[in-house]
Amino acid sequence: MVIGLTYDLRDEYLKMGYGEEETGEFDRIDTIESIEKALHGLGYETDRIGHIKNLVNRLSQGDRWDIVFNIAEGLYGFGREAQVPALLDAYQIPYVFSGPLVLAVTLDKAWTKEIVRNAGIPTPDYFLVEKPEDIDKIKLPFPLFAKPLAEGTGKGINSDSVIKNKLQLDKLCRHLLGTYKQPVIVERYLSGREFTAGIVGTGNQAKCVGVMEIILKANAEENVYSYVNKEECEERIIYSLTDPAAVEACSSLALKVWKAIRGEDGGRVDIRFDDKGEANFLEVNPLAGIHPEHSDLPILSKLNGISYMELMKMIMDSAVKKVRQNKYEKSTDSYK
Ligand SMILES: Nc1ncnc2c1ncn2[C@@H]1O[C@H](COP(=O)(O)OP(=O)(O)O)[C@@H](O)[C@H]1O
Ligand SMILES: [Mg+2]
Repeated sequence: MVIGLTYDLRDEYLKMGYGEEETGEFDRIDTIESIEKALHGLGYETDRIGHIKNLVNRLSQGDRWDIVFNIAEGLYGFGREAQVPALLDAYQIPYVFSGPLVLAVTLDKAWTKEIVRNAGIPTPDYFLVEKPEDIDKIKLPFPLFAKPLAEGTGKGINSDSVIKNKLQLDKLCRHLLGTYKQPVIVERYLSGREFTAGIVGTGNQAKCVGVMEIILKANAEENVYSYVNKEECEERIIYSLTDPAAVEACSSLALKVWKAIRGEDGGRVDIRFDDKGEANFLEVNPLAGIHPEHSDLPILSKLNGISYMELMKMIMDSAVKKVRQNKYEKSTDSYK
């Protein structure tokens, strides 16, 4: 079985002149090498494709793959993560991880919260600020938390994201609107412990591979799992196994979320406790980072006794099962 690999390589974009933060979600070459090594170990052949424009070229040359392992985050538009799977759907080429609908919806943290809240899962109340005039309409009580609507990897998040008064709220919302050119989601601040839960599988086959607590060291940016804390996680963060009650609360919340958003093959759910110790949903990552030592999903798996190879096998088994269920059976040859 030949697996195409689609991804956005950070170095490639840095060379093109894009900035450090702009490319913060993109992958390092050693991530791609690790994925390849694991897939070879599982008996698959691999073929590097790279970013969406390479994919377009390869498709137009007539290249095809049995399945594509897609971790491309994309660069432009709220559909940026959905672009590669949408293109692959058009050519009836199956892929690993969720499809365009899930990837587009979950990039928008507010829409995702609507789905999650509708499924009866606790998540902090929020208000969407689309323009500076909206700031005055916020009626939520302080402390609040503000972040860009559709970013990842802690972009736009630091200790100043925790807001205690109107002045801070106004300043931060204006700053985020101007910098990230997208709406700002303002939420009630969750002051409790933070966790992330790993999921593999699809639908009723989904299971939680583990939960880990994210503990900030004294030298970390306070209160938040921010961009800087994530980039320098080795020095600033302790990733820890946690007590059985927290594991149960987080794994059951994460599975409910995964089913509600209809995530496929694998991903991660971020969770924080409120001041009463109740688990609340923060966000879901259906394209979770997959660097063996630097990314949360492999780290939490390892803490729970699951090697990188085993994790990749579970993800691939789920994806291959989708293909076998004929989800992608070709109905026409017109694309060939
Ligand atoms: N409502 C909130 N209350 C408290 N902390 C929050 C809240 N929203 C986000 N955070 C903090 O910011 C971090 C990043 O937010 P998250 O929504 O997970 O975005 P990203 O996609 O950048 O990971 C979280 O891991 C958490 O530490
Ligand atoms: Mg997160």
